[in-house]
Amino acid sequence: APIVVDSVTALRAQVRDWRQAGLKVAMVPTMGALHDGHISLIRIALERAERCVVSIFVNPTQFAPTEDLDKYPRQLARDLDRLREAGAHLAFTPGVSEMYPAGFATKISVGGPSRGLETDFRPSFFDGVATVVAKLLLQAAPDCAVFGEKDYQQLCVVRQLCRDLDLAVEIVGAPTVRDAHGLAMSSRNAYLGEGELEIARKLNLILRRAAAALSAGADEAGATGDTAKALVSAGFQKVDYVAARTSVTLEPWQRGRDGRVLAAAWLGTTRLIDNVEIPSA
Ligand code: PAJ
Repeated sequence: APIVVDSVTALRAQVRDWRQAGLKVAMVPTMGALHDGHISLIRIALERAERCVVSIFVNPTQFAPTEDLDKYPRQLARDLDRLREAGAHLAFTPGVSEMYPAGFATKISVGGPSRGLETDFRPSFFDGVATVVAKLLLQAAPDCAVFGEKDYQQLCVVRQLCRDLDLAVEIVGAPTVRDAHGLAMSSRNAYLGEGELEIARKLNLILRRAAAALSAGADEAGATGDTAKALVSAGFQKVDYVAARTSVTLEPWQRGRDGRVLAAAWLGTTRLIDNVEIPSA
């Protein structure tokens, strides 16, 4: 079973012991409600390091006041079972006051890849993510940290953050884990009703069609516009964005460069995101 610690001091002491014993340490930051996507990150972490730290912290600073902070699924006992099965060595489960004690007054704001896409709809989201990820990486000081491509823009922002702040952590990107219908695993899928789940499962196929069309030479504005319409026809009530971007920097996509199609859309009160690679022509 994993060691469970909720203080930065205890986390640091354990990682220091491992490091002194010559063991490499990998970290997987999460907000809990662990699913197979998270578990795949732990597996990748364990291929790269002898010890795996998983943080479970529902980070309030990345939720807007209107968002689902209060109803975000919390299930620590079940999460710890899953961590034990997966072979993780330490669960870091800080409370809000451990991460943000009274008087906390710093915010990290990453530019570059955080511009546009999610930020157009969740303006403070990546400030909250960058601040908590910087803290977690400084607290645990792992050799590497694994982040999912499911949250592709987040992965790009974290890479930029570590480069810009000279954090000595290798950032490892991990492929998106999906159900048999192509739906990307997400803690928020738990909010979906039966009918909504069926619609949600169409998102990935629709994005793959868009990526294939772009790869085959389709005009970008036409293809992304058609994709937004296809999402609405499939049953999504609102499409925040469908966009083609260059991988890594997330600048506007240029034909011939590596690219992704990224999208966010609403089913009832649940917001889903997904992204796919544009196949090289
Ligand atoms: P959370 O949504 O719990 O996700 C934790 C990690 O799991 C992220 O790196 C995310 O990209 C990855 N992940 C989620 N679903 C996945 C899937 N289906 N396949 C592969 N990886 C998947 O992302 C966050 O938490 C937070 O923003 C965090 C980085 C922890 C900062 O608070």
